[in-house]
Amino acid sequence: MTMHLLEVKDLRIYFKVREGWVEAVDGVSFFVDEGETLGIVGESGCGKTTTAYAITQLLPKNAYVKGGEILFKGRDLLQYINRDGTINLFHPEIRKVRWRDISIIFQGAMDALNPVYKVGRQIEEAILAHPDALGKMAYLELSENQKHTSKAMQEAARRRVEELYDIVGIAKDRIDKYPHEYSGGMKQRALIAMALALNPPLMIADEPTTALDVITQYKILGEIKNIQKEYRMAMIMISHDISTVAEISDRMAVMYAGRLAETGNTLDLFMDPRHPYTMGLLNSIPTIKGDKETLLARLQSIPGSPPPLVNPPGGCRFHPRCPFAKSVCSRETPEATVVGPNHVVWCHKAAAESAGDEW
Ligand SMILES: Nc1ncnc2c1ncn2[C@@H]1O[C@H](COP(=O)(O)OP(=O)(O)OP(=O)(O)O)[C@@H](O)[C@H]1O
Ligand SMILES: [Mg+2]
Repeated sequence: MTMHLLEVKDLRIYFKVREGWVEAVDGVSFFVDEGETLGIVGESGCGKTTTAYAITQLLPKNAYVKGGEILFKGRDLLQYINRDGTINLFHPEIRKVRWRDISIIFQGAMDALNPVYKVGRQIEEAILAHPDALGKMAYLELSENQKHTSKAMQEAARRRVEELYDIVGIAKDRIDKYPHEYSGGMKQRALIAMALALNPPLMIADEPTTALDVITQYKILGEIKNIQKEYRMAMIMISHDISTVAEISDRMAVMYAGRLAETGNTLDLFMDPRHPYTMGLLNSIPTIKGDKETLLARLQSIPGSPPPLVNPPGGCRFHPRCPFAKSVCSRETPEATVVGPNHVVWCHKAAAESAGDEW
C-alpha cells in the first residue's frame, strides 16, 4: 500500500456548547497525494473549515477531537493533542509542521491583515518565525553562522518576499505599503504569498477567492493552479461553490452536515454524480446535460438548508431535504459504497442502485 501525503481517517470533531455537542465533523475520511488538488465542497455550516483547521490544529478552545487519525507522511498528528481531546495550539511538533509542511490560507483572512504593519513586513515576520526552514532554502546559501545573525536573516526574508511577490503577481513596489493600500485581489495574493513562503508540500486554501469579484476570482484561481503545478505542491481547496472547486481539483469531497456525501475524481462526480446532494449542487451549473436531465430538474435548487449540528437528523443527515428519501434513510446511517475507482458515495439509494436493486 502506498503512503499518502495526507490521510484523514474517520475524523470526528465536536464543539462543546451549552445545548450539548455540535457534531461539526463526524466521521470524515479522505486522502491527498503529493502534487494533487483535493476540493472540499458543501453549503455553509457543513464542517469544511473545521476539517481544515483540525489538520493544522488551530481549532477554538471548545473543540474536542472525538476520534480519528490525521496522518501526514504516515505520522498521526493527533498524537499531539491534549488528553481531554482539546488541541494544544503550541505543541512543538505541531508548530514545526504548521506553515512549513502544511500552510493555510484562512477563510476571511483578507480582513485579518494587521492594518498598522506594511504587508511585506507581515510576510517577512511569518518567514522569520521559521528560521530553520528559511535557512534550508538552497538558493539562499546561508552559512550556519549567518543563520544566527539577524541582519542576514532579515535580508534573506526580504529577498524571499520579493520572489514571492513575483510568483503571485504583485508589483514589488507594493511590499512596503499598508493593507489599506491594497485592493482585495492584491490582499488575497499577499496571503497566497504568505502561504507559499516556506515551500510547503501541502497548502490548504479555505474559500480563498470568495470575497472577490468574479473576474479577479477566476484570475487568481488560475494563478493558484499554475503555482501549484510548478512547485508540485499538494492542495486542499475549500469552497461552497462546486464550480470553483471543480475548476482546479483532481478529486473532490462533497460534505453535508459534518459528513461526507460523495468523493471521487472531479470528472466522475460531474458526469456521474450518485448522491442527490451532489446532483443538487451540480444543478446550479447550467451546462449539465444528458439522461439525468429530468432528475436534475427535480432538484433545481435543493429546498431547505443544512440542519443545525446539535442533535442533527438521525440516519442520513440529508434525508429531510432529499426528494428520494425512504424510511430507511431516517433510520440508518448510510455506509460507504464504492461505485468506481476513487468514487465513494454515502447514500441508501445509491447503494441500492449500485447493487442492481430498484429504489
Ligand atoms: N467554535 C464553535 N463553537 C460551536 N459551534 C461551532 C464553532 N465553530 C463552528 N461551529 C459550528 O460547526 C459547524 C461547522 O462549521 P464550519 O465553520 O466548519 O462550516 P463551513 O463548512 O466551513 O461553513 P462556511 O461555508 O460557512 O465557511 C457549523 O454548524 C458551525 O455553526
Ligand atoms: Mg468555512
